[in-house]
Amino acid sequence: MTHASGAEPTLCVRGVCKRYLNGNQWLQVVQPCSLDILPGELTLIVGPSGSGKSTFLSMVSGLSQPDEGQVHALGTSLWSLSKKHLDAFRLAHCGFVFQGFNLFSSLTALDNVILPLQYQGVPDREAHQRALAALDAVGLSGRGQLLPASLSGGEKQRVAIARAMVKQPELVFVDEPTSALDSHNGQRVTDLLRSHARQQNCTVLGVTHDPRLLAYADRVITLEDGAVISDSRPNMPLSTQEHAETEAS
Ligand SMILES: Nc1ncnc2c1ncn2[C@@H]1O[C@H](COP(=O)(O)OP(=O)(O)OP(=O)(O)O)[C@@H](O)[C@H]1O
Ligand SMILES: [Mg+2]
Repeated sequence: MTHASGAEPTLCVRGVCKRYLNGNQWLQVVQPCSLDILPGELTLIVGPSGSGKSTFLSMVSGLSQPDEGQVHALGTSLWSLSKKHLDAFRLAHCGFVFQGFNLFSSLTALDNVILPLQYQGVPDREAHQRALAALDAVGLSGRGQLLPASLSGGEKQRVAIARAMVKQPELVFVDEPTSALDSHNGQRVTDLLRSHARQQNCTVLGVTHDPRLLAYADRVITLEDGAVISDSRPNMPLSTQEHAETEAS
């Protein structure tokens, strides 16, 4: 289904839910949920700790299988794929950024960014050039030869973003990218994610419980006790909002 903005959703989530056995009781951590996520924008999922944000993200990004429901990513039904094809889909189309950076400590910043291109079989010379450009795009040109231990938290997270973006994935998933960062670096990283979504027309879906970042999001979805309780575009100018509502009706 095409959205009022004219964009085709890149992620179609239908009736996805998850429960865990807690002692002898089932705990429903994500209630059946249906959403369309659009390209070219930063969508943030917010909510209190334990509200199911990470669980939701892992189901829509192909990392954890939902108990029920379907996720169509770029038109592919993710959970109908074999493990091998799901891994290949993620390698080809998805980038991930996590709270803990997950950089290889023995590799330089540049080599960390080159790694996903090596997995994809990109020739060395091209991989090197693209990794340099990706580091440049996050404001880290000249820092490529440093090991992660010599970088600040904000710089490490920017290396992680460069590594996620260097493949130019259509889908980028981000879990608490700023929780280890101070407010200035947190805003910088979030701004980078949004600019990337716009410039590359890719889909950036993130989760955070940091309310300071909402000002940078195009769309904010709030989860509480595993259920979507609001879905809004808080930073859209009022005139555009009215236009979008008229088109949608
Ligand atoms: N593997 C698991 N087994 C049992 N319970 C789990 C498991 N993973 C998550 N949960 C429970 O599911 C609920 C939602 O967890 P989730 O990590 O999705 O929350 P969150 O919104 O990301 O929280 P936070 O903001 O603290 O990261 C929590 O109550 C958690 O304890
Ligand atoms: Mg979480």
